[in-house]
Amino acid sequence: MSTILITGGTGLIGSALTDMLTAKGHKVIILTRTEKTSKSNNITFATWDVKSQKIDESAISSADYIVHLAGAGVADKRWTSDRKKEIVESRTQSGALLVKALQQVPNKVKAVICASAIGWYGKDENRSPKKKAFTEDMRADKEFLGETCRLWEESVEPIKEVGKRLVKLRIGIVLSNEGGALPEFKKPVKFGIAGVLGSGKQVVSWIHIEDLCRTFIYAIENENLEGVYNAVAPTPVTNKELTLLLAQKMKGRFFVHLHVPVFVLKVLLGELSVEVLKSATVSSEKIRSAGFTFLYPSIESALDNLIR
Ligand SMILES: NC(=O)c1ccc[n+]([C@@H]2O[C@H](COP(=O)([O-])OP(=O)(O)OC[C@H]3O[C@@H](n4cnc5c(N)ncnc54)[C@H](OP(=O)(O)O)[C@@H]3O)[C@@H](O)[C@H]2O)c1
Repeated sequence: MSTILITGGTGLIGSALTDMLTAKGHKVIILTRTEKTSKSNNITFATWDVKSQKIDESAISSADYIVHLAGAGVADKRWTSDRKKEIVESRTQSGALLVKALQQVPNKVKAVICASAIGWYGKDENRSPKKKAFTEDMRADKEFLGETCRLWEESVEPIKEVGKRLVKLRIGIVLSNEGGALPEFKKPVKFGIAGVLGSGKQVVSWIHIEDLCRTFIYAIENENLEGVYNAVAPTPVTNKELTLLLAQKMKGRFFVHLHVPVFVLKVLLGELSVEVLKSATVSSEKIRSAGFTFLYPSIESALDNLIR
């Protein structure tokens, strides 16, 4: 049994991961910005203040592993310049604080598993060679998300210098009923409308929440995992395939399918619309070659599980 410290553990991924870890008998410490009381013996809360670089040192000294998830939501609000700054700094400053804590606080941490995102890669048009899915060795895109991911990943690099095993997971679009993209996709379908975004031809590299949590646990448990791995299912799909399959699972034949025009998405989402219209085909080859197997390798299997 180990103690796992999860930064941003109150969020979508952290909550599911906490459930899975405690079910396996592990103890979880959730590092959060606001004090909370726990209802479970296996979960405790500790606080940090990323802006003033303060952290509960006992959380660091008690942990066997750290999972670093914290960061301001990328798709929660429109991308104003202030919001963009918060998206970047919440990640780089929290990374820097973790590095400082690991350098200064005596600890027994064996490995740190950090979230990153497939936003690292940009759009399919930028692939080289064309038609090859994005792999971990490819350079970060120059647009906002690519640059954010580059700075985010760079901020935790010094963790290796303090002798800790460091794994970074570039996470795809997480499919969960508790939050993120799927409940948004479901909203119009409830009213019988399958709303394909733009042309619908853009590729979505997704992962079922359960497989993502299993990936984090796989990275914790396997000492041979080190460096960057894409956390996406082996079968990316187009937005149209995903939307129509979802509508079929939820409504049978009783839905109409329409395309939400690009200009409407631009008005509704601003610069963020670029992200929902972006095609990104990302490879899962590296994590599979490292021995990880997916419970939900196809979108059909994932939606069968999630839509009941
Ligand atoms: N969900 C996805 O589809 C997806 C895809 C790719 C990558 N990721 C990445 O994976 C990580 C976890 O994702 P998630 O979906 O679980 O995110 P989430 O639900 O938004 O949770 C993130 C947590 O980070 C903390 N946080 C928020 N703003 C912060 C700030 N300004 N400074 C420090 N901490 C802050 C919050 O915890 P407290 O309020 O308790 O402090 C929050 O619960 C994120 O970094 C996200 O970018 C997610």
